[in-house]
Amino acid sequence: MMSVYRFLVILLCVTCVFGNQDYDYGREVLSAAKEDKNWLISVRRRIHEHPELRFQEHNTSALIRNELKNLGIPYTYPIAHTGFVAQIGTGSPPIVALRADMDALPLQEMVEWEHKSKNDGVMHGCGHDAHTTMLLGAAKLLNQRKDKLKGTVRLIFQPAEEGGAGASYMIKEGALGGAEAIFGMHVDFTISTGTIATLSGPMLAAVCFFVARIQGKGGHAAEPHNSVDPILAASSTVLALQHLISRELDPLESQVLSVTYVKGGEALNVVPAYVELGGTLRSLTTEGLQRLQKRVKEVVAGQAAVHRCEGSVNMKEDEYPPYPATINDETLNSHVERVGSMLLGPHGVKVAEKVMAGEDFAFYQQVIPGVMFGIGIRNEVVGSIRSPHSPYFFLDEDVLPIGAALHASIAELYLIQHQPDNPL
Ligand SMILES: *[C@@H]1O[C@H](CO)[C@@H](O)[C@H](O)[C@H]1NC(C)=O
Repeated sequence: MMSVYRFLVILLCVTCVFGNQDYDYGREVLSAAKEDKNWLISVRRRIHEHPELRFQEHNTSALIRNELKNLGIPYTYPIAHTGFVAQIGTGSPPIVALRADMDALPLQEMVEWEHKSKNDGVMHGCGHDAHTTMLLGAAKLLNQRKDKLKGTVRLIFQPAEEGGAGASYMIKEGALGGAEAIFGMHVDFTISTGTIATLSGPMLAAVCFFVARIQGKGGHAAEPHNSVDPILAASSTVLALQHLISRELDPLESQVLSVTYVKGGEALNVVPAYVELGGTLRSLTTEGLQRLQKRVKEVVAGQAAVHRCEGSVNMKEDEYPPYPATINDETLNSHVERVGSMLLGPHGVKVAEKVMAGEDFAFYQQVIPGVMFGIGIRNEVVGSIRSPHSPYFFLDEDVLPIGAALHASIAELYLIQHQPDNPL
């Protein structure tokens, strides 16, 4: 919670730094970003046409690094295969981090437009092309103001947000440096372009996946007593799993357990030897997910045993590392709200809706406080009204300068507020 005193101090500081009481900081940064709009659109379209899957973002990474080189902005590469971190400012604390993700989805784009994906079966269907471009835009804005920066901004371009936990590898390889706070944004088709939505506390779910195998004994379907039927065991298991949420979870908490496939058997007259089923578990707390994982293993083993089968669960943690819950820091969230209304006006900042999707930004928040917020792209005129991960997902490119300006302002104003020996 920010005291009124502290807020006044910050206002004064902003005024000191920019030297003029009437200086409209927000409008200044936004108009500088809008001058870059054509460049931002061209970068975003080049990325959109050449989407790359997780940990294969070689061309995307090279494209952005080349733009940084042209701007004279130093960066460290490689980090976690294709990732890199640009750094702007004094090189000393305070240090604040901004983050974008670069990977696309295994999805065939169905939107017919001039800059449709040229890589069959791969699409930027989650807006990471926009996230990456907006962070590049912020790099340019911050670089223009680098002599005014009161500390250091680290711009983290990471691979593999989609299921690959790219963030966790970036952290292991030192991407955070000495950063003390981190901010990220995600395009949001539910709110209009020119608005943001944010929230203090849990915002997105902790997520994992599971595959269960129920081993029985195959045989002729005419003699069920001579086989051990895994189909019946699997059927009971699917139903029993649903009771974990309805009977064991506090109804005021949020969890999801979805069985998304069941595979077993091929013939009409044969009892198969085993059945495989799988799905996803989600919880708004990381501990809740761990409890759910434990119970899923117990229920699968127990239900299989009731039917004389053997049940085992593989959480596929190597392939899909579990994501922690995305939990926004309260003080930093107030900062995002304040900067958001400075740039977009008081009506430009909404309260975000929690969703049970996952976001690997949560890995950074396990190390330092951070905020992930939504940036609106909804625009009926251009048709940016489809949900992410849809093959019809479409972006309102007007968001690009807005996101660049928000990123830059959030970082610059954070540094001003966190001076170690504030003269006031
Ligand atoms: C990456 O760039 C190379 C060289 O231009 C090109 O041959 C290749 O197809 C690109 N890969 C993707 C996935 O777009």
